[in-house]
Amino acid sequence: MSVEREETNELPEIVPEGAATLTERRWFIAMAGMLFLMMGVVVFTGVTQMLHPMSDVETIDATSLHKSGEFTENNLGVTSQAGGAVTVRIIAQQYMFVPHCVTVPVKTPIRFRLTSADVTHGFFVGETNTNAMVVPGFITTVRTSFGKSGDLEMPCDEYCGYGHHGMAARVIVVPKETFDKMSPDERMSCGTQ
Ligand code: CUA
Repeated sequence: MSVEREETNELPEIVPEGAATLTERRWFIAMAGMLFLMMGVVVFTGVTQMLHPMSDVETIDATSLHKSGEFTENNLGVTSQAGGAVTVRIIAQQYMFVPHCVTVPVKTPIRFRLTSADVTHGFFVGETNTNAMVVPGFITTVRTSFGKSGDLEMPCDEYCGYGHHGMAARVIVVPKETFDKMSPDERMSCGTQ
């Protein structure tokens, strides 16, 4: 059968072997060039612009957050370290953030640590590029610094159920002197117990 078909088919014009190899080689060089260019851009931006995945993969048992470990009640809220850096720990759960308001100092490295007690929530601080997903079983770490004082909305921006639209907290950015005078309780309630 195949013999029959060969007989009736008109053979296409044959490209000389050398020309085909040359075309293949050019395309290979173009592809390799693009690949290296893209890898270069990824490495360059990663190193110079600090564009990298939000955090290492850190896992946590979402069913026992309140009982033990980093996210027990007395660890939540704002902690300030010796060097002046500040860590904020927040639990996201249907349909609230605990604590619901945090006060942080302006122009200071802030490390947010969040986790979820139930479903996936979103962490977004208004007027900034601070945005991450908060997934049960994992800890989300976001490092940032606020350039000016202000009262910022922190809505959940990941649909999490019927109460999603009402789920929000606030981040209040204050001058360092104001922050230093505040008690830990005031820092994690914004002074309105
Ligand atoms: Cu929590 Cu949407």
